[in-house]
Amino acid sequence: MTANITFTIIKPDAVQSNFTGKIIDKILDAGFRIKAMKYLHLSEKQAAEFYEIHKNRPFYNDLIKYMSGGPIVAAVLEKENAVESYRNLIGATDPQKAEPGTIRNLFAKSIEANAVHGSDSNENAAIESSFFFSKLEMF
Ligand code: CMP
Repeated sequence: MTANITFTIIKPDAVQSNFTGKIIDKILDAGFRIKAMKYLHLSEKQAAEFYEIHKNRPFYNDLIKYMSGGPIVAAVLEKENAVESYRNLIGATDPQKAEPGTIRNLFAKSIEANAVHGSDSNENAAIESSFFFSKLEMF
């Protein structure tokens, strides 16, 4: 059975550019249901913890500064085969390589400021969702 949730962040560059509404429209038009959503501003410590998996990558310090540099929108999304379906909707990490019409192709600025995050596995979708939301907040 395929798990049916994924986790996303609308990142600081996209929120700052007022793309939040357009990105949520794309998500809803693609058939996702929003199970939980919040607008917040991560501290450097919180961003470092969320992206700990990348702590040995050369871009880690810049990523932490960028992700804590402005408000974001975090959300849990539901749809059949949600992880793969959402990764298809957002396109490649590098917007130069993202398919036309994908969220990153339309709204991302660079490989770092790439508009949105999407979970890469069912396991990480569950871990990332619970980083931002309690069980009570996801319905
Ligand atoms: P995300 O899908 O949120 O997962 C890790 C993030 O690190 C990624 O999106 C980008 O924001 C950033 N990232 C990944 N690769 C690079 C890179 N080569 N250079 C700079 N930032 C990167």
